[in-house]
Amino acid sequence: MPKLLEVRDLTKRFGGLTAVSGVSFSVDEGDIFGIIGPNGAGKTTLFNVIAGHFRPTSGTVSLGGQDISGHACDEIARRGIARTFQAVHVFGAHTVRENLRRAQVLRWRHSPRGYFSSRKAVADSARLSEVAEFIGIGSVLDLPAGGLAYGLQKMLGVGMAIMVAPRLLLMDEPAAGLNSSEKKEAGRLIRRLRDELGMTILLVEHDMPLVMGSCDRILVVNRGEPLALGTPAEIKADASVIDAYLGEDYDFA
Ligand SMILES: Nc1ncnc2c1ncn2[C@@H]1O[C@H](COP(=O)(O)OP(=O)(O)OP(=O)(O)O)[C@@H](O)[C@H]1O
Ligand SMILES: [Mg+2]
Repeated sequence: MPKLLEVRDLTKRFGGLTAVSGVSFSVDEGDIFGIIGPNGAGKTTLFNVIAGHFRPTSGTVSLGGQDISGHACDEIARRGIARTFQAVHVFGAHTVRENLRRAQVLRWRHSPRGYFSSRKAVADSARLSEVAEFIGIGSVLDLPAGGLAYGLQKMLGVGMAIMVAPRLLLMDEPAAGLNSSEKKEAGRLIRRLRDELGMTILLVEHDMPLVMGSCDRILVVNRGEPLALGTPAEIKADASVIDAYLGEDYDFA
């Protein structure tokens, strides 16, 4: 069986700057796979290459055994990769429902009119309610997204990504900007996405309790280069990771 995601020797340069350098890893179906490392290490760039926002300078990305490197991002989305963004990324003047609907329709860009008159749109409206309940925003569907608390806007970003039932979800710092109880809630949501919806998740996050408590395996990157790959227990104990990122007195509680 091919791995769900296989990244091989991936490099991305911006002019003279090498943001990602020779990174390889693979993710099994049903895993929560973490990518951690200092600011500017290349984590978001790695996501941007996997999701098709940037072409790799060299190296390959395969999904379910098929090479998707350099494909356009809407083509990659159709093949089953969705993402959430590091910053809040919602249409603030539109209602929560419209935001979720928009995320759905993106897949039908070639024929939005056909979409709205289709039976699929009816089925999708049931899905919209299910997704909203799942992520805990069912009671605010008709409010403008821009008026929601920051934490709820981030949850909406997750909802928008899962509307299309992706096989692989890339989450870029889902807990950034959340308070400590919202962070715990975000961790629970990530585990439920895997356990209850069967999603495979690639998680970039600086919140170590969340990463260590949720991930099956973790890749550490530093200055674009792979530094370590292992289970949470192995990564916590890795001297090079402590030195480059975690620090001696890191508190995992
Ligand atoms: N579009 C771009 N053009 C030029 N340089 C870029 C571009 N995107 C990212 N970079 C550079 O690539 C490097 C890696 O940035 P990236 O955003 O991937 O880091 P990161 O690991 O996500 O950091 P953070 O934890 O702060 O989000 C940085 O030096 C950044 O300035
Ligand atoms: Mg980033």
